[in-house]
Order: sequence, then structure tokens, then C-alpha cells
Amino acid sequence: MADLEKDIAKILITREQLQARIAELGKAISRDYAGKDLLLVCVLKGGVLFLGDLVREIHIPHSIDFMAISSYAGARTESSGVVRILMDLNASIEGRNVLIVEDIIDTGRTLSYITENLRTRNPASLKICTLLNKPSRREVKVTVDFVGFDIPNEFVVGYGLDYNELYRNLPFVGVLKPEMYTNLNESPTTGS
Ligand code: IMP
Ligand code: MG
Repeated sequence: MADLEKDIAKILITREQLQARIAELGKAISRDYAGKDLLLVCVLKGGVLFLGDLVREIHIPHSIDFMAISSYAGARTESSGVVRILMDLNASIEGRNVLIVEDIIDTGRTLSYITENLRTRNPASLKICTLLNKPSRREVKVTVDFVGFDIPNEFVVGYGLDYNELYRNLPFVGVLKPEMYTNLNESPTTGS
């Protein structure tokens, strides 16, 4: 871990802050969905650590499912909004109360695609829970129902979020040192 941590310029959200906020989110979700048939849909790969901790703070019955998507970046700095489903959900969501669990909303293009796609499958309800939100970067309007943290426009890694598939295992959310970007003129984009 020490090897990875030397690439981090600063820690934005500590492990303790993550734990405390996720406990609050779990409580709110447990309250809002009490007595309902709840399905958490985790967007791979970035959302997987968040999901793992979140479900342990949700104290009502629910099931989980996964989908993997790839976003093709037009330029490296922008997500193009052209999204492809790499792995679809296992089961039908028709009539179920679906809560999408995401790592981060940046431009909003990815989640806008996912919600439009899932809506055509007639869930009873469709809401979004994201750990991180970059409101200043939004290009497409998305209604977010549960937000862990609003963060400034900085590229972050850790706690599921990657740069070139690395750093997902860091227990905190941190800002990568700019010299770690392979191309210094461009800020990174990733898949999910
Ligand atoms: P959007 O379509 O621009 O909202 O992009 C969302 C996706 O881009 C997220 O699910 C992440 O996979 C990736 N992403 C956006 N910002 C960051 C970041 O700061 N660090 C790591 N991945 C990010
Ligand atoms: Mg993602």
C-alpha cells in the first residue's frame, strides 16, 4: 500500500469519514425502502467497494445485482456519453424498486444512459445512490437521490475508483499527483 500511497497528493475523504457517511446513507435507505422490495444495482467496477460497505449498513431485506458498462471517451478529458453495456443484469427488474449504486457522477452522461436504459424495463421505482458527486462538471441533468459527498473538480482515486485500473484498493479517496498521469496535458478518464 505504501507504494500506491506515494502517488497521492492529498487525502480528500478519510476511511473514517467514508464509514460514518455510509452508515448514514444505509440508515436513510433502510428507512425509505422499509416494507418494499428493494434491489441494489451496482455499476462495476468502481461501485463495488461502496456497495460492499453500504449493504452492511442497510438493515432491511434486499437483493443485489451488477452491471458493467464502458464509456468511450471522445477526448481523454471528456466522457463521450457513448456507453456500452458489457455485462447486463442477471434478472428482470420489472416491478422492483431499483436503487443504482455508483461510485461517482461527473458529467452525468453514464448515469443518464443507464437510467434511460433501465427505465424501459419498467421498474416500480428507479433511484440513484452515488458515493461521490462532482456537481461543477455536470453536462446532463441527473436526479440523484442519495449522495455521499459533493467533491470539487479534481480527479480522485481510491475506495473503488481507479486510474488505469490501479488504486482501487486504497481505503480512502484521494487526489492523484498530477505527474502520475501518463499524458501531462490531459486529465484522466476511466471506464467504470
Ligand atoms: P460521467 O459519465 O462523466 O458522469 O462519468 C462517470 C464515470 O467516469 C464514473 O463512473 C467513473 O468511472 C469515471 N470517473 C469520473 N470522474 C472520476 C474520478 O475523479 N476518478 C475516477 N473515475 C472517475
Ligand atoms: Mg463508475
